[in-house]
Amino acid sequence: MSNALFIREYFRNWQSVGAVAPSGPHLARRMMEAAEIWRAEHVLELGPGTGVFTESAADVMPEGSSFLGIEMNGEFVQRLRPRFPKFRFEVAAAQEFDFPSYLEDKAPFDAVVSGLPWTAFPRSLQEAILDQMLPHLAPGARFATFAYWGFHELPSGRRFRELLHDRLPGVETSRVVWANLPPAFIYVGRKPLN
Ligand SMILES: C[S@@+](CC[C@H](N)C(=O)[O-])C[C@H]1O[C@@H](n2cnc3c(N)ncnc32)[C@H](O)[C@@H]1O
Repeated sequence: MSNALFIREYFRNWQSVGAVAPSGPHLARRMMEAAEIWRAEHVLELGPGTGVFTESAADVMPEGSSFLGIEMNGEFVQRLRPRFPKFRFEVAAAQEFDFPSYLEDKAPFDAVVSGLPWTAFPRSLQEAILDQMLPHLAPGARFATFAYWGFHELPSGRRFRELLHDRLPGVETSRVVWANLPPAFIYVGRKPLN
């Protein structure tokens, strides 16, 4: 999918899109490793955008696993659906998504990859999204999200890191992926086993 669509949507919805360019393939691969998508049975992606992480997930997900992408931008979802016909995409805000209904006849998620622009969010939204989603992860589920290097020192970046440490004790930070523009690193946490 073209970067032009991403840039156009950035200028229309800069606060929710939160970046002028999609993530690069190096960061996408590192995100898949961090969330151990190669052994996931049910993957959740938050904010797939133009599908950079989705494509990497499709490359490594095991046969028979399921995928849900929650993306609030309908333009992006319209393009993702035909590209990944076996995956499900919902046009929704993650903080409002009805996880219990969706999961009624399914196993909880065991891996989450997030492309959400957390540092552009106020604390209330950071909390609302995590608290809406985390109860629906299986014990031991992996959660991977990225932050742009440098931006994590902004007040909203620090707040998000503290929040993550509070909700997923033991969350780890990867080395910086310098090949991404801008350089980014990954937070990876696990849902406690009990
Ligand atoms: C920085 S872009 C990342 C896109 C892609 N994952 C990547 O890394 O290139 C953030 C995406 O999150 C979506 N988004 C922002 N806030 C959201 C929310 N509350 N719920 C669902 N999607 C959201 C935006 O529409 C956008 O597509």
